[in-house]
Amino acid sequence: MPTEVRTGGHGAVGTLPAYVQAYEPDIEKILISEQEIQSKLVEMGEQITRDYDGQSLLLIGVLKGAFVLMADIARAMSIPAEFDFMAVSSYGSSTKTSGIVRILKDLDLDIRGRDILIIEDIVDSGLTLSYLLRNLRGREPKSLEICALLTKPEVQEVELDIAYHGFAIPPTFVVGYGLDYRQRYRNLSYVGTLKPHVYQE
Ligand code: IMP
Ligand code: MG
Repeated sequence: MPTEVRTGGHGAVGTLPAYVQAYEPDIEKILISEQEIQSKLVEMGEQITRDYDGQSLLLIGVLKGAFVLMADIARAMSIPAEFDFMAVSSYGSSTKTSGIVRILKDLDLDIRGRDILIIEDIVDSGLTLSYLLRNLRGREPKSLEICALLTKPEVQEVELDIAYHGFAIPPTFVVGYGLDYRQRYRNLSYVGTLKPHVYQE
């Protein structure tokens, strides 16, 4: 289980960067700290480097949430990498999955015959990724694996083989490290939950 660090009141605020202070009144608790994320990324990066030794990778980031993980994991591995992005819609601005996946932005690059690593912030129901996997397999890449920072095993509806995985979290809505609520909180360095008042506004 991730450690639970309460931000409460003005405790640690003074030592945090200004952008975190701006969000601080909205954060209920920190589920995974910046340090926990960063040390996990070192492990994941080493694992990827071992697995793809001597090869090059095409990283596919699932916008928008994956941009933070993509930047960090790409620098935690020491193999040549190219980058592309896809945007899909599954959520709108609410906090529950719709099950409907639509491609809003497709890849620029041809993935046929390439080693592909999909970078995803979080697997909730798993519907988004299972759709993406099916779609990308049809384009005949040489290999296709998943790297996801977070999973919510208790609410996952579709089984997925996630080769590189950060943390399993409880089925609560989280923000930070790329994850948003109404497009905000993505630039928090940690993963946390929001106070109820935020959802009422
Ligand atoms: P899934 O299709 O249910 O697996 O949903 C995956 C997508 O929903 C993720 O890529 C996120 O964009 C979004 N999502 C799922 N859970 C959360 C959350 O707790 N906070 C913010 N976004 C989430
Ligand atoms: Mg996402």
